[in-house]
Amino acid sequence: MAAFWAWFVAVGTIAFVIWCVWLISWASKQGPQNKQDEDLVGHKWDGDLEEWNNPAPKWWLYLYFITIAWAVGYMIVYPGIGAFDGVAGWSQQGQYEAEMQAAEARYEPIYARFAEMDFETLAKDPDANKLGKSLFAGYCTTCHGSDARGAAGYPNLTDNDWLWGKTEAAITTTIQQGRNSIMPNLSAALGGDAGIDNMVSYVQSLSGAVAADEAAMSAQPMFVALCSACHMADGSGNQLLGGPNLTDDVWLYGSSTDAIRTTIVQGRNGVMPAHGQLLGDKRTKILAAYVYSMSNAE
Ligand code: HEC
Ligand code: HEC
Repeated sequence: MAAFWAWFVAVGTIAFVIWCVWLISWASKQGPQNKQDEDLVGHKWDGDLEEWNNPAPKWWLYLYFITIAWAVGYMIVYPGIGAFDGVAGWSQQGQYEAEMQAAEARYEPIYARFAEMDFETLAKDPDANKLGKSLFAGYCTTCHGSDARGAAGYPNLTDNDWLWGKTEAAITTTIQQGRNSIMPNLSAALGGDAGIDNMVSYVQSLSGAVAADEAAMSAQPMFVALCSACHMADGSGNQLLGGPNLTDDVWLYGSSTDAIRTTIVQGRNGVMPAHGQLLGDKRTKILAAYVYSMSNAE
């Protein structure tokens, strides 16, 4: 907080407390001060219910003064007056750090044990997987779903089909550095609607969804020329570039004519954000092993 605003807030806060004290003592001196002065204000309901002008009960006023005294004590102990930190030295940041340290102290030995374990063994360890599951729930389910089965554009992590690879190194890189897929818009190169339609059929024929008829096969040379760098000439995919296998029954964006057409005409750019800084090495390893274990469970 800039010095001016710190003082502004401090003066404002103190002035307000003083004003409250003044207001309550002033109000308590208004109206009748003792029994003799009591009188009727002249309002009458239901024939015999009359309103008296009585002073507020003393205990009621004392409650106000107690809350004010409490506020003053509170502002001396805790931060509340401008930039003054309070004599107790408490701060949100400090509390957060203390809690983080406590958590660190608690989990560090567990993480350290898992960090030393070999990846395959870790992926089979029930305790590690339990921890992995809760980390997954905290960081990954927004995109991959609570059952990790994904959605259109978000890969299913429980099947055995991998865009970027299933090795420890590949999964770790995916989690730490993220992935940016580039499926370019290739409509121009395909020469108009007929060319695009043929290419869609050809892609569908790769997984056997439609017959590899003449129209579809007419797109094969184009596929080899335009698509093989990322999907290989036989369409089996290229994990170095995240190019999906087009010959199986697993689809990131869908196998319908519409979905494939959209992919080819508009391109696709799936983004898996980098989580390395957020998670640190040890938690990344536990998560990677958990992800690995999910696809093995089938
Ligand atoms: C903001 C959404 C988002 C979040 C959060 C997210 N992911 Fe992803 N993830 C994606 C997308 C999108 C892809 C697919 C990228 C692509 O198209 O190549 C992906 C891909 C992956 C892959 C590669 C799958 C394959 O077939 O190779 C793994 C593994 C993965 N994510 C694990 C995780 C883990 C573990 C977390 C939690 C730490 C996580 N993701 C959090 C969106 C997300
Ligand atoms: C520069 C590399 C590259 C080229 C060239 C390329 N693709 Fe792709 N393609 C990708 C990537 C990467 C993805 C995954 C996109 C994502 O994860 O968001 C993809 C996704 C797809 C999908 C969606 C698969 C699914 O599971 O939903 C289809 C279909 C496809 N490409 C067809 C083609 C066709 C047909 C061509 C040639 C005309 C082609 N691609 C050329 C990289 C490429």
